[in-house]
Amino acid sequence: MTLAALASTVLACALMTTAAAASSPLVIAHRGASGVLPEHTLPAAAFAYAQGADYIEQDLVMSRDDVLVVLHDIHLDTTTDVATRYPSRHREDGRFYAIDFDWAELQTLTVRERFDPRTGEAVFPQRFPSGDGPFRLCRMEDQIQLIQGLNHSTGRTVGLYPEIKDPAWHHSEGKDPGTALIALLAHYGYDSADDPVFVQCFDPAELKRLRRETGTTLPFIQLTGGDLPLTDANLTDFATYAQGIGPHLGQILRADGQPQPAVAAAHARGLLIHPYTVRADALPPGVPHIDVLLDLLLHQAKVDGVFTDHAAATIAFLRR
Ligand code: G3P
Ligand code: CA
Repeated sequence: MTLAALASTVLACALMTTAAAASSPLVIAHRGASGVLPEHTLPAAAFAYAQGADYIEQDLVMSRDDVLVVLHDIHLDTTTDVATRYPSRHREDGRFYAIDFDWAELQTLTVRERFDPRTGEAVFPQRFPSGDGPFRLCRMEDQIQLIQGLNHSTGRTVGLYPEIKDPAWHHSEGKDPGTALIALLAHYGYDSADDPVFVQCFDPAELKRLRRETGTTLPFIQLTGGDLPLTDANLTDFATYAQGIGPHLGQILRADGQPQPAVAAAHARGLLIHPYTVRADALPPGVPHIDVLLDLLLHQAKVDGVFTDHAAATIAFLRR
């Protein structure tokens, strides 16, 4: 083969790979590479980036001094050492709330692999050892800077996938994390419909309010679950303000593995479908391996992306 022919072949293969990648379902790193490292830490985000995720998720709560903190729960006692470091700072219910701490205090906490605060037992014992470690909480701003920096140094475009946690509760505490998130994203250049961001929330009222009050055109994903079924009426409503849905796995797959009718109904309304959560170590009943689950979701139901704790296994499946 001549050099010119070789170059032509390589270029053709590269174009085919790019086209395939562009049409592939999205791999969304759920809480970063949470199957490998403590969730929502900067190392977990960097690891997910290196694994090849398309988007990296950030669950968000607000601190007392209005910092958007990347944390799944409004409580701190399921992933940090708050109970030993600040033993008197719990509320009457015995729980420690991030909203009762300033960012300077939150920065002093050590983050651990998720555990049951009543027993100290790890939720996923086979994951990162749950003890002392170099892990800290981070802000949404830290994750944006990390991902934008990596995008610059690698030439890739990995997106953000922030979730506004418990907005009604935050409002009742005098906080507005949703509006703060839209402003922070705009500050870092994410302000239009084709930017690599999906803003997600379980509360339809919050997404509707943000669309109305901020005028943002960023893509929105309506999360759904037990309290929010995928009825035709709900899907029609979601399509008025959101670009897609983030359903629980059970809302996409029936017990026999067949797609639920809501899959076709959502696609018929132009809604993307990004179900949660694909975990190699917590599979649905009757599913023997992550590849089987991925086949059902991506090849049978033909969803548009998946939230996964195991991005590497998901990407390996897609490549095969
Ligand atoms: O945001 C998608 C999925 O993460 C929703 O569940 O509880 O893990 O935030 P959760
Ligand atoms: Ca989430």
